[in-house]
Amino acid sequence: MTAAPRAIVITGASSGIGAALAAFYAAPGITLGVTGRNAARLDAVAATLAAAGAQVEQGLFDVLDRPALAGFLTGFDASHPIDLLIANAGVLDGRRADGTIESGEAARRVIEINLLGALDTVHAVLPQMIARKRGHIVLVSSLAGLSPVTDAPAYSASKGGLVAYGRALRAALVESGVKVSIVCPGYVTSAMTESHIGEQPGKISADAAARLIAAGIARNRQVIGFPRMLYALAMISPFVPEGINRLATKGLRFHVVSRS
Ligand SMILES: NC(=O)c1ccc[n+]([C@@H]2O[C@H](COP(=O)([O-])OP(=O)(O)OC[C@H]3O[C@@H](n4cnc5c(N)ncnc54)[C@H](OP(=O)(O)O)[C@@H]3O)[C@@H](O)[C@H]2O)c1
Repeated sequence: MTAAPRAIVITGASSGIGAALAAFYAAPGITLGVTGRNAARLDAVAATLAAAGAQVEQGLFDVLDRPALAGFLTGFDASHPIDLLIANAGVLDGRRADGTIESGEAARRVIEINLLGALDTVHAVLPQMIARKRGHIVLVSSLAGLSPVTDAPAYSASKGGLVAYGRALRAALVESGVKVSIVCPGYVTSAMTESHIGEQPGKISADAAARLIAAGIARNRQVIGFPRMLYALAMISPFVPEGINRLATKGLRFHVVSRS
């Protein structure tokens, strides 16, 4: 088991899984850096964490604002060397109610936030972690990163990119003392799943997801995938013939309602 982290940063902590993870770790003696774009939601999360006894620093910025992202992370790390960095901020886009496939603009935005935003998050802190020979980087991907979903091609690509990146980075850092884990959740109750209109089998609460994620982090799992059955199916799906895959996932087709 990995030593319990004391200085933790979570991007996308203003709601959903990120907020639940922050609440999981919040306790006296813990310093939490929580980031997001929505000031009111981030304030509310920070107040809950402070009430649980944690010291809290808020970062209000878009992960696409690289100077703001790097400034917050390096500043936090300078005063509280980060033990655990969770790159969780992400968005979902995809097929719309009228059946149209995601636009090129939407596809770019999803890749930029979910993949490049996560890479920029990692690289703001990676040199310091390597110099200290410790730290744990966690990339929040999705089961869609293991088994791409028809109705969200760019989302699937962004999450598949995170899986490949995380596996390679973990191997590259194996001698360095810095750990890397990838999280592949199935359906989790959050603002994101509210915008996903379709069946969501095996959906669990954000608090339950946070507990599973934290347990996987403590065990330094390479991939933390859940729920177990959907994770197993996602892992074998690349070896299943295309037509069978299409039939098997027919009931999981969905569309996305815009949240902006
Ligand atoms: N829910 C699921 O079923 C599910 C399944 C698989 C994977 N995931 C992944 O889990 C992660 C968290 O999602 P969630 O379900 O908890 O959704 P959520 O409730 O919508 O939370 C998303 C978080 O990311 C932040 N965020 C989004 N775009 C951002 C940007 N450009 N800059 C900074 N922050 C940004 C949001 O901040 P603001 O609201 O303040 O803008 C929010 O805090 C995502 O990476 C998602 O892909 C979720």
